[in-house]
Amino acid sequence: MPYPEPLKKLIEKVEATRPARVERKLKEEEFPPLKLEERDPVLRNFHPDFIEGTRREIKVGPSKGYAISNEIVDLLEARSRVNPYLVSLSKPDYETDVLVIGAGGAGTAAAILAAENGAKVLIATKLRHGDANTMMAEGGIQAADKVGKDSPYYHYLDILGGGHFLNDPELVYTMVQNAPDAVKWLEGLGTSFSKFEDGRMKTMHGGGTCRKRMHYAADITGAEIMKTIRDEARNHTDMIEVIEFCPAVELVLDDNGRCAGAVLYNLETAEYHYVKAKAVIIATGGSGRLHIQNFMTTNHYGATADGIVMAYRAGVPISFLHTVQYHPTGVVFPEQAEGILITEKFRGAGANVLNIHGEQFVYEREPRDVEAACIIRECSPKGRGNGVPTPTGKFGVWLDSPMIELLKGEGTVRKEFPGKHILFRRFGIDISKEPMLIHPTLHYQNGGLDINSKCETNVPGLYAAGEVSGGVHGENRLMGNSLLDVIVFGRIAGEQAAEYASKHTESGYANLDHVKRYNEELETAGIEGERIAPMILPDYSNPEVREKQLTKDYFGTLS
Ligand code: FUM
Repeated sequence: MPYPEPLKKLIEKVEATRPARVERKLKEEEFPPLKLEERDPVLRNFHPDFIEGTRREIKVGPSKGYAISNEIVDLLEARSRVNPYLVSLSKPDYETDVLVIGAGGAGTAAAILAAENGAKVLIATKLRHGDANTMMAEGGIQAADKVGKDSPYYHYLDILGGGHFLNDPELVYTMVQNAPDAVKWLEGLGTSFSKFEDGRMKTMHGGGTCRKRMHYAADITGAEIMKTIRDEARNHTDMIEVIEFCPAVELVLDDNGRCAGAVLYNLETAEYHYVKAKAVIIATGGSGRLHIQNFMTTNHYGATADGIVMAYRAGVPISFLHTVQYHPTGVVFPEQAEGILITEKFRGAGANVLNIHGEQFVYEREPRDVEAACIIRECSPKGRGNGVPTPTGKFGVWLDSPMIELLKGEGTVRKEFPGKHILFRRFGIDISKEPMLIHPTLHYQNGGLDINSKCETNVPGLYAAGEVSGGVHGENRLMGNSLLDVIVFGRIAGEQAAEYASKHTESGYANLDHVKRYNEELETAGIEGERIAPMILPDYSNPEVREKQLTKDYFGTLS
């Protein structure tokens, strides 16, 4: 749907202030960023993480007492999909060295490295191979590989600054040190990064970076990376098997407390299968489809925190899940595209963020949590009340993409942002001429399962990598460090799991006793209810219909 007349009228205000804003940019005069001491009050008053009543303490499990989003606690305090008393694990349906749960960037990178290190790998995934947030990532991947201009040292400092200096330093060190090699590996496999004519890679800034180190493939970096590594994994036919539409629903441990595989649920046949494995890697990604605080989301359909639920029941603690990332710029109009990511690269390329009066109110490259809080303050009636109303009564602010044409030359928007140019064109909006209407959208799970720099959890034989894990980004991830996280830690997890599997060839008696114990804990804590987790897929049905569904018996038994 093109902009209706009232919005077109408001766009005139953006056009009126544009020449002066472009001139300022060309003179390198920036809108002043917030001082460090100015960030905190904006965050406390306007970032959704600080809204009272939206978090509560978990009553059971290894991180009992930790307060995180209600929507995630609901899942951690739910019952298993399988009845541990009825399940027989005597005959595995599949046997492998390394089971990888999840087939996005981290899972696929892990599978490749595990196979290259001699392990037989089974990837089990909920949807299709590559249906993941990695595929939808737009902006880029950070790596300090421009010797002389940048170094992993600056990258390290930027990450700590973005994460409020609370990040796990060991994980940050591992990520920045391995970043140049990760980009080299991807390029070697065939990833087409954007380049200058002389072959040098193009790099740009993201919010909170002090150097231009973000490598990208137009505005479809994640798709380009995912497609490349998926092809690579699928070429290892002798070592990697992939089973699609089979999410894992419970981990299996042995009587030595080691991870011994998982129970999968076949979405097509409604059967449960037991995979016996010497090592397991959880790479199930994030949780945007929980729509925390009813936020729209950039995330793919399967992002429902399944890995967190399973590993937590098996005894893995969680951290940094008290913070959630709201990407500052999600589509708020046209409504059919609501929540879809508009890459931060637009702001990296110079596009201003403007209120209803066409005025700039925030420096466009603040760290994400600060930028999002400033936008919410501008839109909120309790804040400045300067949001632009949409036809259905929501509010947003303008992202002035046509500025990029004036700063970088005609045709730049179409060339550098083909994904978004095409998306908006379908609605009759040309973003090289008209600004986009945006609002923060639920984007990323900053925290997750505790791991060390070898991707080990506290359960022997159980590894985690990518968005499902927590620590490297502290309380707020910076742009371009998610694709990096999945590649660096995915590769490490694959290598480590393969090595573990080669040394632990015998497993003990496989069981689901941890699930029995967890159920007992729930009962002791007085937690009742019929909620089942992992959720597997989000439920957009009418609540009355949903209520009826919940009374059905969900417990499955293995064949
Ligand atoms: O804005 C973006 O393109 C998002 C990138 C990221 O989350 O790393």
